[in-house]
Amino acid sequence: MALRNILKAGDETLAKHCRPVTDFNHRLHELLDDMAETMLSANGVGLAAPQVGVLRRAVVVLETAPGEGKEYVIELVNPEIIEQDGEQEDPEGCLSVPGSFGLVKRPYHVKVRAQDRNGDTFEVEGEGLTARAFCHEIDHLEGHLFTELCDHILSDEELEAYYAQKEDKS
Ligand code: CO
Repeated sequence: MALRNILKAGDETLAKHCRPVTDFNHRLHELLDDMAETMLSANGVGLAAPQVGVLRRAVVVLETAPGEGKEYVIELVNPEIIEQDGEQEDPEGCLSVPGSFGLVKRPYHVKVRAQDRNGDTFEVEGEGLTARAFCHEIDHLEGHLFTELCDHILSDEELEAYYAQKEDKS
């Protein structure tokens, strides 16, 4: 496994449409392993292949198991959202737009159909942050960044005020 360089906003690769994965071979496995390592090393909760310069439909998302709180990586190859409901709005960021956050509306719950690294189809559901990460990473595969979905990038003061207000409510 190896760390890969994460492309930053402004790089035209991030604006491109990604092609489906067709070969479930050792190169894909190496890509997914590297993406997971790169995401974890950067303290991210998701990473899409175009962010490491590969224009293929593959993403990784960090999920926290309910209860015990153990973290694990979900690999999604050729993912598509097949169901969504509810709504959430929270600050969202991206490893390709470091240090920037904007309020983005996402469905609260999504169901995704994808293939695993061996090409087997499965479905996975996520809510809250996981649903947000699924949507955000799948957007990357279409060449879209969260900055297109938010009104503006929050200032430090706005971000602090947002979290202070949230803490008051809970
Ligand atoms: Co991102």
